[in-house]
Amino acid sequence: MYVVTGLARQYKAYLIVIGGHRLGGRLAAMLHLMPDKPDLSVAFAGLKLQTPLVLLSGCVGFGEEYTRVEGFSNRDIGAVILKGTTLKPRLGNAPHRIYETPSGMLNAIGLQNPGARHVIEHILPHLPHDETQFWANANGSTLEEYAEVARLFDDSPVTAIEINISCPNVKEGGVHFGNDPVMAAKVVEAMRPMTKKPLITKLSPNNADIAETARCVIEAGSDALSVINTLVGMAVDIESRRPVIGNISGGLSGPAIKPVALWKLHQTRTIAAKHDIPILGQGGITNARDAIEFAITGADAIGLGTGLFYDPLLPRKVLDRLAEYLTAHNISNYTNLIGTLEIQA
Ligand SMILES: Cc1cc2nc3c(=O)[nH]c(=O)nc-3n(C[C@H](O)[C@H](O)[C@H](O)COP(=O)(O)O)c2cc1C
Repeated sequence: MYVVTGLARQYKAYLIVIGGHRLGGRLAAMLHLMPDKPDLSVAFAGLKLQTPLVLLSGCVGFGEEYTRVEGFSNRDIGAVILKGTTLKPRLGNAPHRIYETPSGMLNAIGLQNPGARHVIEHILPHLPHDETQFWANANGSTLEEYAEVARLFDDSPVTAIEINISCPNVKEGGVHFGNDPVMAAKVVEAMRPMTKKPLITKLSPNNADIAETARCVIEAGSDALSVINTLVGMAVDIESRRPVIGNISGGLSGPAIKPVALWKLHQTRTIAAKHDIPILGQGGITNARDAIEFAITGADAIGLGTGLFYDPLLPRKVLDRLAEYLTAHNISNYTNLIGTLEIQA
């Protein structure tokens, strides 16, 4: 065993010289030189994630409660994205805020949060930053608010800031910033000078041309993309004949949106790869097979959101099956799986 491992180290250098990860991987497999366990760490916007799994904003609060679930470990997670945060505290929307749908859920929480200063002063100091990374999710009603939230989080232990551009722009009659590529880029431009931390722009599937929005926010200085946020939907109570959700519409998440998310990821991958920009793929992932589909389509990191409501211990299960898949396919590390989608010419 010792000899084989030694040989593996020695051969690895030759295989890299021979060129191409996949060729190297195949030769290594033929020579039975695969490492015991595939490497699941991944580089993302200048950060090193210990695993590709990222817990999504709004699905794990401010990183405190889910850690009490027995069997859960932050060390299985590359990063945790905190609940969407605005400059001032917000009480959120009137109920109902959540409604279960076939294969998914609608939510309209309305960004309930205690405000950026409270998060920074009273929540972040108590989080286990040695176990995983925590990222902020920045929101605003004006460009100035987005900029100020970025400035505040810059001086905090979060290692990245995700920008939720699916917020109503109060100066433009409530149209979501993310619906217009130029407006989306302006949000990034406003935040960029305020922080050296990686900015991850979260794209909405609800606009006409997601690839164009991706291009605009990348050119405005975004270091990474999150693809996708929820789809807008609604539900009706047939007895009262009223919308079920207090806000009338809500964001649809969960398995129902997975095919849309994969397609939007595929559409943004080309432009992101051209600029060497990583993507946090998300939307309806509830098992390892889903996660692998996203990785193949081009997700550098894998977001788990609504799937955690079905099963809070999902991360460990996804990691175990992902490692089995990589081993079975003679792929020595997760990075070599990313964007390996084959499209017939
Ligand atoms: C209850 C709930 C609250 C959410 N809150 C936020 C939020 O504050 N900020 C944000 O950018 N996305 C928010 N999202 C969207 C998720 O982060 C994620 O992008 C989306 O749900 C798609 O992934 P999923 O299908 O795996 O849940 C929320 C989703 C849910 C279900």
